[in-house]
Amino acid sequence: MSDTTYLKSLLKAHADFPKKGIVFLDIFPLLRDPLAFETLITHFVHHLTSKTIPNSASKKIDVVVGLDARGFLLGPIIALRLGAAFVPVRKQGKLPGQCVTAKYEKEYGSDSFEMQADAIQPGQTVVVVDDLIATGGSAKAAGELVAKLGGNVIEYLFIIELMFLKAADKLDAPLYSIVQSD
Ligand code: ADE
Repeated sequence: MSDTTYLKSLLKAHADFPKKGIVFLDIFPLLRDPLAFETLITHFVHHLTSKTIPNSASKKIDVVVGLDARGFLLGPIIALRLGAAFVPVRKQGKLPGQCVTAKYEKEYGSDSFEMQADAIQPGQTVVVVDDLIATGGSAKAAGELVAKLGGNVIEYLFIIELMFLKAADKLDAPLYSIVQSD
């Protein structure tokens, strides 16, 4: 069985959560299962080290950026396996010290993201990780924060991509997803 088939079988769809009309895809059943969690992380790490990302052939990944909140569950583990830094992007007002800010629209509502201004050095190679990409608004905002600090995003990584929202069109670097959902 492929990783995609295996991991997809463990996702749970919840109709009308957090509000009517949204089908929420829950990744937590997958994290509850150690074999599935290991398969997921290893899949991402193999992808990132297999030279399949355009224009990234010899580049070491310096920083894994994880998005608030479920990107915090994946990013640090991937970063440790790569020997890279982990940097959180948080909702506005949560991070101490000087921060850069970017506003975004999401599938349900709008919000602002922040990153600590000294978290990324100019020229560093960065990947952005989250559990799911919907409209791509939050990923785009994260890319803007990385760009403000002079970093280069080489790829955006997700477990799930909601294909009908066409997020890939919004991003300035390739999008990689394990499960594509209609
Ligand atoms: N975040 C935004 N849209 C979502 C969805 N449909 N399922 C899970 N997380 C989401």
